[in-house]
Amino acid sequence: MATNIISGIKFSSLPTNYIRPKSDRPKLCEVSDCNDIPVIDLGCQHKNRLIKQIGDACRDYGFFQVINHGVSKEAVDKILKVAHDFFNLPVEEKMKLYSDDPSKTMRLATSFNVKKESVHNWRDYLRLHCYPLDKYMPEWPSLPSSFKDIVSNYCKEVRELGIKLQEAISESLGLDKDSLKNILGEQGQHMAMNYYPPCPKPELTYGLPAHTDPNALTILLQDLQVAGLQVLKDGKWLAIKPQPDAFVINIGDQIQALSNGKYKSVWHRAIVNADKARLSVASFLIPSETAKISAPNELKTGENAAIYRDFTYAEYYEKFWSRDLDKDHCLEFFKN
Ligand code: OGA
Ligand code: NI
Repeated sequence: MATNIISGIKFSSLPTNYIRPKSDRPKLCEVSDCNDIPVIDLGCQHKNRLIKQIGDACRDYGFFQVINHGVSKEAVDKILKVAHDFFNLPVEEKMKLYSDDPSKTMRLATSFNVKKESVHNWRDYLRLHCYPLDKYMPEWPSLPSSFKDIVSNYCKEVRELGIKLQEAISESLGLDKDSLKNILGEQGQHMAMNYYPPCPKPELTYGLPAHTDPNALTILLQDLQVAGLQVLKDGKWLAIKPQPDAFVINIGDQIQALSNGKYKSVWHRAIVNADKARLSVASFLIPSETAKISAPNELKTGENAAIYRDFTYAEYYEKFWSRDLDKDHCLEFFKN
């Protein structure tokens, strides 16, 4: 059966190709509310304290939230609104942008990788390349008419935040602040606008099944009203409570590799709910295609021998899309 987008279509029951086998369901009653994912105030004037908080969070959680992050409230409010408006466009309008080819630099897609997966996920997403903006913006959606303006402005602000965080992460590893950035090269930036429509049977499926992010750093803006993000910590799923005016930050596979395994790119997933659509906007910072991902020598001394072989991001990304999202951690394929 050809797969189609799900936003804007009425479902009275969950189609069978979205139903997970019993052993692979979210078991929502076993998930605890997480109040202890670190919330880090980037406005903090004590630099050493801030760097330590970031380092501890990257090591112990792989996830944290940031407040006073420098991205304007206006940019955040506008992108949430325009994303809602985009997914509320008529199905025929949205389908003009549909593609299941992951190599496309702009596409509306559904689930994760419909050509490869056996069970689908209750998600539509608009995937955009965002850097350099003048190269990619012309191919972005022209409806809603304010889309390009709003999204490009948001992209610029979020990029600054991401780079600032990478500098802090670098310092927290005992490296020079530019060290990680220099290895990552001229970084790309992608966006996934994720839309999870109300789901007739949320306990039988996922919005996104457990995965780690293949990129360097993820900056996630999540709907304040509708929770759905869960993170694996010590073998248990924890629900991340959305905080006002915060972003959720997580370490991607590339920073796990560059930290020689000290910082964790942890498993996370998105669940859906019966009543309300949920929206999230994920921004991904991505190594340049030719960047050689190799942890700095300072992190590969003594008992800390290099865990991963050197690789390029192009090689990694190809592997990432060729496998099932929720099976092995993709970095396992790059171990020494
Ligand atoms: C992602 C992701 C989580 C969410 O896009 O990689 O993990 O809450 N999204 O939408
Ligand atoms: Ni993710």
